Amino acid sequence: MEKGKTLIDEQTLAARINELAAAITKDFEGEELTLVCILKGSIYFFADLSRKIDLDTRLEFIRVSSYEGHDSTGTVEFKLKLDKPLTNKNVVVVEDIIDSGTTIKALLEYFETQNPKQLKLCALLDKPSRRTVEGINIDYLGFTINNHYVIGYGLDDDEKYRTIPTINCIPLSEEDSKSIEEDCLKLKMKY
Ligand code: IMP
Ligand code: MG
Repeated sequence: MEKGKTLIDEQTLAARINELAAAITKDFEGEELTLVCILKGSIYFFADLSRKIDLDTRLEFIRVSSYEGHDSTGTVEFKLKLDKPLTNKNVVVVEDIIDSGTTIKALLEYFETQNPKQLKLCALLDKPSRRTVEGINIDYLGFTINNHYVIGYGLDDDEKYRTIPTINCIPLSEEDSKSIEEDCLKLKMKY
């Protein structure tokens, strides 16, 4: 099944994820690490990243939802909570995409209440032009993208297309379609 135009191919994803994993491995050398997966969108990123991190690593899962259609509802609903608190742990939160920033802000605030030793954020994609929440610092970032709706590699459109192995763009208008073509080319040259 194919949909949209490929913005980031499998090879580029794998290469960048290796770099992120190497950076995390280096920063937490000699320490235990807890990786928190934000379901469902982070599933493949989390699976691939975690297997490239060479540390004593534990995995935790949380599920939230804030999206309806192509826009954030502004409220973050917790559908599955952590089963163990993050107290005194070195934590890296693994998110698929930071858009308005609402979801990650609510999550980081929730995790902070558990007093982790360190709390870092790793995101595969960032759409800074859509940000409505200030002060989100992404410690480990895969790719910055322009304002396109993306699917695949875990990301969905109304629960569809998560299993596409690449990051693809769905054009929302004729104009969007043109800028997607340009951005696909630019990203190809950059990575
Ligand atoms: P935020 O709260 O607006 O930052 O939205 C973050 C969440 O919305 C992400 O974790 C995704 O699950 C979803 N999301 C945001 N942008 C996209 C997109 O382009 N494609 C698919 N899901 C998205
Ligand atoms: Mg998500």
